[in-house]
Amino acid sequence: MAPIDPHSCTDSTHPLATHISLCLYFDFSASTIHGSVLLSLPNPHHGPLSLDTRSLSITSVIVPETNTPLPFSLSTTVDPVKGQILTVSLSNHSKFLIVFSTSPSSSALQWLSPPQTFNKSFPFVYTQCQSIHARSVFPCQDTPAARICYTARLNIPRQLSAVMAARHVERRPPVPCEAAMSCDDSSWCAEGRVVEEFVMEQPVPPYLFAFAVGEIGCREVGPRTRVYAESVNAVLDAAAREFAGTEDMIRVGERLFGPYEWERFDLLVLPPSFPYGGMENPRMVFLTPTVIKGDASGAQVVAHELAHSWTGNLITNMTNEHFWLNEGFTTYAERRIVEAVQGEDRAALNIGIGWRGLVEEMERFKDNMEFTMLKTNQEGVDPDDVYSQVPYEKGFQFLWRIERQIGRPAFDEFLKKYIATFKFQSIDTDMFLNFLKMNVPGIENEIDLKLWTEGTGIPPDAKEPVSNIYTKIVSLANEFKFGRMPREDEVADWQGQEWELYLENLPKSVEASQVSALDARYRLAESKDYEVKVAFLQLAISSGCRDYYSEVEKTLKEVGRMKYLRPLYTALVQGSGKEEEKIFAKRVFSEARNCYHPIAQGVVESILSKHL
Ligand code: BES
Ligand code: ZN
Repeated sequence: MAPIDPHSCTDSTHPLATHISLCLYFDFSASTIHGSVLLSLPNPHHGPLSLDTRSLSITSVIVPETNTPLPFSLSTTVDPVKGQILTVSLSNHSKFLIVFSTSPSSSALQWLSPPQTFNKSFPFVYTQCQSIHARSVFPCQDTPAARICYTARLNIPRQLSAVMAARHVERRPPVPCEAAMSCDDSSWCAEGRVVEEFVMEQPVPPYLFAFAVGEIGCREVGPRTRVYAESVNAVLDAAAREFAGTEDMIRVGERLFGPYEWERFDLLVLPPSFPYGGMENPRMVFLTPTVIKGDASGAQVVAHELAHSWTGNLITNMTNEHFWLNEGFTTYAERRIVEAVQGEDRAALNIGIGWRGLVEEMERFKDNMEFTMLKTNQEGVDPDDVYSQVPYEKGFQFLWRIERQIGRPAFDEFLKKYIATFKFQSIDTDMFLNFLKMNVPGIENEIDLKLWTEGTGIPPDAKEPVSNIYTKIVSLANEFKFGRMPREDEVADWQGQEWELYLENLPKSVEASQVSALDARYRLAESKDYEVKVAFLQLAISSGCRDYYSEVEKTLKEVGRMKYLRPLYTALVQGSGKEEEKIFAKRVFSEARNCYHPIAQGVVESILSKHL
């Protein structure tokens, strides 16, 4: 008996399910899904089989062919990271059906009431399963070492529609005897309900399971891309404009990394509470509406999520301890796409923003340097608590270092071969290193591979990018210390990313009067670009400039993206002698928390509890 993943109860001696069929009945009035999942094992199994669950109630476990119940037990202890273990006793069965219900606090699900939506008429619900939240939607072997194909039948109110990270099969009236015990036929077939069916034919890790249900509309933006969002013309039109260049990026991706294997590349723009910038759900990327800024800069986030179609979704980290294989490779691939469509300068700017982020993470983890390693030990660790730029930016730096060593043409060939070799597999750091050594003989004599993957901090052969705009912006930021603000002519062509880099390179705290002077001139607190606005507000808070607290409050109440919540709440509560700020942070959180996704609620809670 040995667990195969520190974040899952899946046992090495148990077979991994390869296919599941889901029936989900959505009860919006109770923020609950009544569901059943039919798991198929590759071979009959005899004895106990463990599954991950979190805040699920289990009604029964059944042999589908005979309708006979199977013994099961749900652990009475709840592991704060992993949740509860469901143990099913099988007697040479290869298929079994679990009937369950979610709870309103299921960590993957955000239920929005009608007033919390744009149109205010209908409710909305969506998932965020990465890293270990799929288990709060249905019982499963919630480890990325497992890959499953699935079918899903969603029973929803007729006024709503459903989308999934899967192929849509049909929308039709419910029929009796198809609910697979998720609920009784009278509820399933009640007046005003419809069924939407989906199928995912390619094996995916459970964290890529995703759906959204609400009043959803769409626009065509390319031959294999539609953009979906809450059905509001202004939102859909703006999104369609912002993402018009998507097909060009897919083509660049195919040239660099090989065929696009997922057929469609649709985009779903979520409500402002979506906790991430983007989530690479296959066939249907989920995006925050904050990337729609009207200046095509949302393309960077799309490039990133698109890049996951090869790195992450085709080749998947075996466990979260090897998360850099997903995010480091994807950050590298994203920047190659950006370089191809937006030019070298823009890519260098992105590398520079990333470099700054990496340097800052070293400061954040100075007392827990083990989290600055690429290969981490996450026994007992909640991945949401240690989420950082390290796997992204140190992973990027590692791959960029290899590229510099062997030259771009050889590295491009290596990447293509890596993807073709491991596609639809889950791998770990050692498998990557072995493949590297095999295909680039002698690389271990040129690059200290162990230092890069198992060492802490930033290796000496990492590199800050060089480019004219990058260097210019960093030196302007350095001059701010001496009281010089950039002139209008120097910032005339700056877009959001230039300001972001500038603000991030300023000292952590400056004179309050300097903050106000900078804002008086460039109106940064009112920027429509949240990257700029939040970087500015963070500086204002750390500089003790209270003039902006109403803007801080407004921001914390209108978006739920953790990239913005984390730095603002942290700046408010970190440090001593900030009683007024702490009271303010607590009040704002208590008023805003219902609008945040459960994952974001947990992250803000842990920031506040560390400092209050
Ligand atoms: N897969 C991540 C988001 C994620 C990571 C969700 C860990 C849950 C746990 C996604 O691809 C991502 O990295 N998003 C970034 C986009 C950015 C790097 C362009 C984000 O949300 O900021
Ligand atoms: Zn990513």
